[in-house]
Amino acid sequence: MEHCLDGVVATSTRISHVDGEAGRLVIAGYALEDLAPHAGCEEVLHLLLRGSLPDATERDRIGRDVAAKRELPSTVRVVLGEAADRSVPPMDALRMAVGALALGPAGNAEDDALTVVGLFPTIVGNYWRLLHGETPVAVRDDLTHGAHLLHQTFGVEPSTDATRALDTYLVTVCDHGLNASTFTARVITSTGSDLASAITGAVGALKGPLHGGAPGPALQMVFDIGTADRAEEVIRARLDRGERLMGFGHRIYRVRDPRADVLATAAERFYGTGSQRRLYELARHVEATALRLLRERKPDRRLDTNVEFYTALLLHGVGLPVELFTPTFAVGRVLGWVAHCIEQRTRGRLIRPQSVYDGPTEGRHRPLANDAA
Ligand SMILES: CC(C)(COP(=O)(O)OP(=O)(O)OC[C@H]1O[C@@H](n2cnc3c(N)ncnc32)[C@H](O)[C@@H]1OP(=O)(O)O)[C@@H](O)C(=O)NCCC(=O)NCCS
Repeated sequence: MEHCLDGVVATSTRISHVDGEAGRLVIAGYALEDLAPHAGCEEVLHLLLRGSLPDATERDRIGRDVAAKRELPSTVRVVLGEAADRSVPPMDALRMAVGALALGPAGNAEDDALTVVGLFPTIVGNYWRLLHGETPVAVRDDLTHGAHLLHQTFGVEPSTDATRALDTYLVTVCDHGLNASTFTARVITSTGSDLASAITGAVGALKGPLHGGAPGPALQMVFDIGTADRAEEVIRARLDRGERLMGFGHRIYRVRDPRADVLATAAERFYGTGSQRRLYELARHVEATALRLLRERKPDRRLDTNVEFYTALLLHGVGLPVELFTPTFAVGRVLGWVAHCIEQRTRGRLIRPQSVYDGPTEGRHRPLANDAA
């Protein structure tokens, strides 16, 4: 049997709790559906780092502190420039840029955390512009975390609707128990290593298609279907070919992913009555058809909508290209990563699981011919 720590409790945390049976996600004491539609990233960062929601003054202060860290260090600029010259994919560029940060183990943990959080949207947006031969724009300190990403990417003032939609998304994905990238960050931190190393490892884990990569294909399925009357035929054909429907099913949730509900509501509000409303209606129809057909095919396996389905719709709506979907996920998840690193550093132990050896044991070393004499 393959051992992959399924169901193993590896640490305790006050940062988030995932209840897969009940379809519940609690972020530092607050149900996601209560938090995400109302709280901005700055409030949630305060909650994750300091354990309580801020009042307005505290929120503004932590927002200003993060915004003051947005300027790229010169080494990171050089790395991004070189990466763009070689057309490196955005997640690799993000990993390289974080790896180029010099945050020492002796640093102030919260200060380092704010630096990493402040830099993430700058790195992602700045790199997107470089990759497309455009000049990066100067950072602004009067924008929220989400608005900062949109501004760095597109170089224009983001709309209120887009900012609200993106902030809801970023809060929705800010933390999710001991997922692979968070676990990676905690393992690295547990060795006494620094925050930049831990976050570099986390970005590497998130990059893998089994962790951060499904929203692109989920959106593509909606585009491929095109009109509601084709949904059943296209989905049936995919299932007949043994394909998995992207945006459905989850390893932990046995009911609907609570994040899907939050993002579906945000998508409905964002698409409103505008010209893009048709895309939202189509996605709802595709979702309903997919759920019906999955139930028909797998009556004993509860396959429900996961976070990726509405992520795709929402990020597409705010204008972000598919290539930036996973980096945008990182811009949200970095809030949780830094909080976990600090928690691990203050109360965790070296994480050192064991393995079952299943290789041979009877080998005998023979000196190589040249060594015999
Ligand atoms: C997320 C995912 C990997 C979870 O997988 P899992 O819990 O290990 O589920 P299993 O692999 O045990 O699958 C159980 C059964 O349901 C089927 N199934 C699972 N997800 C499915 C999907 N999205 N579409 C069609 N069938 C699916 C499997 O084929 C399997 O059928 P089988 O028993 O006949 O082989 C899986 O649901 C998936 O691939 N989803 C699509 C990708 C996606 O949206 N990922 C983002 C997750 S947030």
